[in-house]
Amino acid sequence: MKKITVKLKTNPYNIILSAKEADFISNLKKLQDLSSVFIITDSVISKIHLSKFKNLLIQNKFIVKTAVIPAGETGKSLKSLSFLYDSALKNGIDRKSCVIALGGGVVGDCAGFFASTYMRGIRLVQVPTTLLAACDSSIGGKTAINTDGGKNIAGTFYQPYFVWLNTDFLKTLDMRQIRNGLAEVVKYAFTFDNKFIDYLSKILEIGIITEQNFEYIIYKCCSYKADIVQKDEKETRGLRALLNLGHTLAHAIETHTKYNKFLHGEAVAIGLLFAAQLSVYKKLCKQEVYDEILSILRHCGLDPQSPPFSIYVFSKEIAGQNKKSNIAALVNLMKKDKKSVNSKINFTLLKGFGKAQSGYLIDDKTLYNQLKVFFNT
Ligand SMILES: NC(=O)c1ccc[n+]([C@@H]2O[C@H](COP(=O)([O-])OP(=O)(O)OC[C@H]3O[C@@H](n4cnc5c(N)ncnc54)[C@H](O)[C@@H]3O)[C@@H](O)[C@H]2O)c1
Repeated sequence: MKKITVKLKTNPYNIILSAKEADFISNLKKLQDLSSVFIITDSVISKIHLSKFKNLLIQNKFIVKTAVIPAGETGKSLKSLSFLYDSALKNGIDRKSCVIALGGGVVGDCAGFFASTYMRGIRLVQVPTTLLAACDSSIGGKTAINTDGGKNIAGTFYQPYFVWLNTDFLKTLDMRQIRNGLAEVVKYAFTFDNKFIDYLSKILEIGIITEQNFEYIIYKCCSYKADIVQKDEKETRGLRALLNLGHTLAHAIETHTKYNKFLHGEAVAIGLLFAAQLSVYKKLCKQEVYDEILSILRHCGLDPQSPPFSIYVFSKEIAGQNKKSNIAALVNLMKKDKKSVNSKINFTLLKGFGKAQSGYLIDDKTLYNQLKVFFNT
């Protein structure tokens, strides 16, 4: 078992990296006066992992209730939230209960929002089941749901009691979901660590990612995230905003395509490459940084310039009849992003290999022109 502590002043917590169920149970038993656990999962995971997970808790004498939200980004909605409030009340979930978010980022974000607001807040444990959630979304306490107006428009900061990170869950993920998670891994490498870029580049060139590689990658990403979160829990010091590298455009793309064309990581891959292009344009870094990010994304199977992924599909759509209005729509969506300041769009950009900086305000015209170059329209 490995343990990373997120050393927050008020509510520090542990990320437990272990494939042993006993490690999870012993941590859960530390929650005092627990009346019941409320497992929230989605319609795909419920068919694969829910019954074993539920039985584990029942065998250990917990009172267990469950709720299943729709799988995929559309599950992160007001409708799901409303369903969860009703279901919790019907199941007798009270202030001494604990929510267990069993799933990817969608379940984690939605269940986290629910836990932070139900009866003014009940306890939360995150059990990530995707690579993306293991490396990123299960840690740090950001919760959210999407609205028609945009991605993550409603949300809270709400830290879990602990995170149980068991890589066995990841064994049932398909390749597209693995690639999806790798996009956030690439983000960490380019944001923080030149050596991590080299490590990724080496294993991706070999083409086989072993279980040990995954464990190392997840450990590295969790360590970076824990470090940033403990220094800037509520994104008020500009540090946590570093983790937004690639996300400004990614969120606009997800909203523009109504969450049904790209996985989050695929949109992030597009956003990472665009952030690199913008960084080169602003003379913050050299062309070779752009080239390296492109090469790594290509090795991850997130090649933005070939089918079936990302920019290729998207640029075909963007370059279609409505190309000008598509790009204008993206710019408008980015302006509505919560990171925007006085309608200028706030970007995290690259100053070199493994070196990101937040707070670059980009005006509409520059952004519009750079997007035109990017999508080759
Ligand atoms: N809170 C944060 O800090 C933060 C950070 C990054 C991303 N996010 C959010 O995370 C979400 C994306 O998360 P995601 O990529 O995990 O997507 P997801 O939760 O939609 O999971 C992807 C798909 O994989 C399925 N799945 C999950 N675990 C599985 C398993 N073990 N085996 C087989 N299938 C499985 C799910 O049912 C779903 O269909 C986005 O909404 C994004 O905004 C949040």
